[in-house]
Amino acid sequence: MAKPRTEWRCQQCGYAAPKWLGRCPDCGEYGTFVEEVFSPMGSAALTGVARKPVRLGDVVASGASRTPTGLAEFDRVLGGGLVRGSLVLLAGEPGIGKSTLLLQAAASLSTSGHSVLYACGEESAEQVKLRAERIGAADAIMLLPEVDAAVIEATALAERPDVLVIDSIQTMVEPSLDGVAGSVGQVRACAARLMRLAKGEGMTVLVVGHVTKEGTVAGPRVLEHTVDAVLSFEGDRDHVFRIVRATKNRFGSVSEIGVFEMAEDGLAGVSNPSAVLLADRATDVPGSCVLATVEGTRPLLVEVQALVTPTYLQMPRRLAVGVDTARVLQALAVLERRAGLAFGQHDVYVSVAGGVKITEPAVDLALALALSSARLDKALPGGTVAFGEIGLTGELRSVRQTAPRLAEAARMGLGPVYIAAPSRGAKVPVGARSVSSVRELAEIIGA
Ligand code: TYD
Ligand code: MG
Repeated sequence: MAKPRTEWRCQQCGYAAPKWLGRCPDCGEYGTFVEEVFSPMGSAALTGVARKPVRLGDVVASGASRTPTGLAEFDRVLGGGLVRGSLVLLAGEPGIGKSTLLLQAAASLSTSGHSVLYACGEESAEQVKLRAERIGAADAIMLLPEVDAAVIEATALAERPDVLVIDSIQTMVEPSLDGVAGSVGQVRACAARLMRLAKGEGMTVLVVGHVTKEGTVAGPRVLEHTVDAVLSFEGDRDHVFRIVRATKNRFGSVSEIGVFEMAEDGLAGVSNPSAVLLADRATDVPGSCVLATVEGTRPLLVEVQALVTPTYLQMPRRLAVGVDTARVLQALAVLERRAGLAFGQHDVYVSVAGGVKITEPAVDLALALALSSARLDKALPGGTVAFGEIGLTGELRSVRQTAPRLAEAARMGLGPVYIAAPSRGAKVPVGARSVSSVRELAEIIGA
């Protein structure tokens, strides 16, 4: 039989071309071409056989049985452990620690008596061995330095491991298909084989997928629909933490995160990130305020820092790291208008310590306090914690999950805590030292 060919198809209008095109000659869109498998038989020969549907009421759900990997932070993101027969994608930039994490998980699993087959297409067996020695991995892991998808599938069928690790999907090659490894067609075809192993044979398959900073590399994006769970590995070399976040999970919640630190002997789970993030904090300096934020369901205390200096520029500089510049500009405008603090002659720098990125509006209050403290050159009381959204009129709005934030501040012994006054009828939350509910920004700044 002839090898199936691949063709490139515009995802906008369906125009087909024999090679990749930057711009579709038909509809004029840019960057819409995706490689697809082209079946020479046509669709006429593919009439299916009718099957009898099952009544939903007759389906017996056995309840997903989970195997904990033994890495507490990894299990937390997975929703308690690996589900039998699931296909999990671990996506992240090169060098972030995907291979390390999966090797550690494999080691821990094999120590607890599960068989693991580790297909290392990216590295030689010796390279994996070197890494294994660093992290003290078990000898029982079975290694397969192979890129051929058919060989990997056959080996997995022969060895029948409980867990199959593929490192990485971009190096895997489907032999029956043209196209270089990592192309959309290749990745899809390889994923189909892995899906057969997971769903058909009940193996748990963990797949590594690389993404670039722009998130453009074909692989993981194409896979997201197919797999049961997508875990993204975030953070980089300069950051304190590496965070594994579930962006899709058919067997668990997507609100959990796992926090890790890269050490000399592999990734170490961080069970108390607040303590690590606040360890180097200097108290009694102007421009610092602790924010109680929530990552998933996990409260986290981070330090928001601001530096305000007289400007020598016509256009004062505004620079923000770890928080959206738009939020900083808005906080500055509100402070100027509602609290009488002018920043027009000042450069403003804002940073969230530890490389944490804050996207939630709850950062507003901590940001405004840090900015005003820096502008007035007056330190806030020792362990000041704040969270709350600030509206354009200077009013404070309460944010979700107040209780766990207050509890975390209390646990770390911090206070005073500033929060938005609860709306009428709502209970005043308790739990932290000297909680002040505030309605207007000016109430704090004026004091
Ligand atoms: P790696 O897991 O190979 O990243 P990925 O598979 O995502 O490309 O390793 C990431 C980096 O971590 C690598 O630059 C070396 C470093 N590292 C440590 O600092 N300590 C260790 O124990 C290990 C195994 C790696
Ligand atoms: Mg790797």
